[in-house]
Amino acid sequence: MKNFNENLPIGVFDSGIGGLCVLKDLQNYFPSENFVYYGDNLKAPYGNKDISTLKALTINSLNLLTNEKVKAIVIGCNTLSANLYKFIKESVRVSVIKTLPPICNDRNKALLCTVKTANSSFVKRNFKGKVIALEDLAIQIEKNALNLSKIDLSNVASVIPLTTTEVVLGCTHYHLVKTHLENLIKIPVTDSYETVKYQLELELKKHKLFKNLGKGEIKFIGECANFNEKIFKTIL
Ligand code: DGL
Repeated sequence: MKNFNENLPIGVFDSGIGGLCVLKDLQNYFPSENFVYYGDNLKAPYGNKDISTLKALTINSLNLLTNEKVKAIVIGCNTLSANLYKFIKESVRVSVIKTLPPICNDRNKALLCTVKTANSSFVKRNFKGKVIALEDLAIQIEKNALNLSKIDLSNVASVIPLTTTEVVLGCTHYHLVKTHLENLIKIPVTDSYETVKYQLELELKKHKLFKNLGKGEIKFIGECANFNEKIFKTIL
């Protein structure tokens, strides 16, 4: 990619604090890379919004990130990845990495996700286990970020079938209550963003934009930059 170089940051975005979990994983894996994070916290949650609203919000996020001259973009949000990947890819000039639940043919696995992710053709086609759409868990996490133990997960636990052998978190916000949920249901719980770093590494190397020297920095942008930075530094 012409006019891009390895020192430019990687943009990561989400409706709010969920993408911070993806960012943390990326920071651990790529300690030399620079990142820019945008969370659209004031507009969260995304999981119940219609596609035209999500498109408008996404264009705003992409504009903010491209103004920072990012060399790649990570969609730190399952809802946008499952519904708008093609739209996002066609809107920017850089590589775009999505966050999606794994393809699953095991009927004893359960996927917890937003309504919009559950209704996406990606999930309908690729997740053959039990898909459980949660109307308001993401916003509860967003609003109680500094007091996560306050969130009552018993309603979530009660809708997971007893035959379930593994629960996949198909929303990046849910990582913040992962341990809490695991202790409650006593079934392994896995995130869906673990492969994002490998996809990103392949793209950066392919375009000769991989940075592996020096210590990377993270810049938080947008109206809630300070809040997101605080959550990132205190909780993750
Ligand atoms: N964190 C996002 C996801 O992974 C969005 C949650 C929301 O805003 O509803 O789906």
